[in-house]
Amino acid sequence: MKKLLVINGPNINLLGLREPEIYGVRTYADLLAYIREAAGEAGAEAVCFQSNCEGAIVDEIQKARGAYCGIVINPAAYTHTSIAIPDALKAVGIPAVEVHLSDISSREEYRRHSYTTEACVATIFGKGFEGYKQAIGLLMSL
Ligand code: DQA
Repeated sequence: MKKLLVINGPNINLLGLREPEIYGVRTYADLLAYIREAAGEAGAEAVCFQSNCEGAIVDEIQKARGAYCGIVINPAAYTHTSIAIPDALKAVGIPAVEVHLSDISSREEYRRHSYTTEACVATIFGKGFEGYKQAIGLLMSL
């Protein structure tokens, strides 16, 4: 069975509480259940990791080498600030898909640029939970 690593960055653990008008009322636990079901339907196993720390995310990407055939990543605010995260993705060379729950192209100016994009095979945004399902489908089709 194909193993996928799903990484969520800072404040994604507060889904449901956090700006529900932007991110919805479903919780992080709901997201985990959704991802596991979507992966199961696609014939994959999803291992989920969440951290509020950039270095912990870099460590997790480095550990993924040889263990996973794809990475789904929502780096959250680090999308717009981190060079270490895309560097780690490029270093391990595992196909990665970037996901954002909200439509980062139509929000504040500072959210429009993603450093992560150039290290990913695709970027999906503005589709809520469904974006993770699409990312899993895309990685499974590679
Ligand atoms: C986000 C968008 C980011 O700009 C923001 O900092 C987040 C979540 C999203 O999923 O829409 O924390 O990545």
